[in-house]
Amino acid sequence: MFDSRETLTTKAFVAGYPIKHSRSPLIHGFWLKHNKIKGSYQKEEVAPASLPDFLTALKSDGRYVGGNVTIPHKELVLSIVDYPDELSKELGAANTLWVEDGRLYATNTDGHGFLSNLDERHPHWDNTNSAVVLGAGGASRAIIQSLRDRGIAEIHVVNRTYAKAQELADRFGPKIHAHQWDALPEVLQDAGLFVNTTSLGMEQNNATAIDFRSMRSGALVTDIVYVPMVTPILEKANEQGFATVDGLGMLLHQAVPGFEKWFGVRPIVDETLRSLVIADMVEHR
Ligand code: ATR
Repeated sequence: MFDSRETLTTKAFVAGYPIKHSRSPLIHGFWLKHNKIKGSYQKEEVAPASLPDFLTALKSDGRYVGGNVTIPHKELVLSIVDYPDELSKELGAANTLWVEDGRLYATNTDGHGFLSNLDERHPHWDNTNSAVVLGAGGASRAIIQSLRDRGIAEIHVVNRTYAKAQELADRFGPKIHAHQWDALPEVLQDAGLFVNTTSLGMEQNNATAIDFRSMRSGALVTDIVYVPMVTPILEKANEQGFATVDGLGMLLHQAVPGFEKWFGVRPIVDETLRSLVIADMVEHR
């Protein structure tokens, strides 16, 4: 029997408010073309007040197989979907949705993106007992959760506002240790990984005050800020002889599980994709 669905384009979306600066369509568009898939991935500008209606409609109108949600929807979406997974529930935020049998499912792929970026660009980085995470905002959470789940024994969270670091330690368990800002030199000693999740990456002065030299030899320094690609923190770490990984790969790798879920092919993060996104960043600087 003729199945009309075979002739339809598989469609996914990214919803945010505002949405015009999202680079996700570029990434998914590249993979659709590369894999010769008859599909589309498009931006949806959805105001917070319209999010419940937008998501509820997805379950019945068949317009989309799923999509991403971004700022400011990542937290709110959890209370609207039918089945958030354990990972997103613990995190309190989701970024990837899919429809199955008229129900809406959600997960969060930021931690996956973070780990896969390091795995790809600096294999064996996880051979350490101690990691330092600077910052305790939204982005920091997914990173702390993923480092814990990867089995890093001690995760030190240093934040300007101590109470927020303490909240994360309470949320993610005994492997997480909260610290005041001035404890940074102490916790860096013998650490194998330093992660910047603050906008400090973009500010020259404060960043260059950090001294990485007491870290373990062979330690890795990474920054989730990717504009500029070589942040002042990465520049300083390089000068002090440490390996560094930029944050662009996290953006690329976090998109992989969603694409696979919606379009049925596990896409590859390669240099062609990286170059495409870098060129777009240069063009829209
Ligand atoms: P994101 O979702 O990108 O993590 P966020 O939730 O606003 O953004 O978190 C920003 C983080 O950067 C916070 O940890 C913030 O510290 P506070 O919790 O004290 O606000 C940190 N941050 C931002 N600007 C900073 C600065 N100039 N110096 C130190 N930390 C800074």
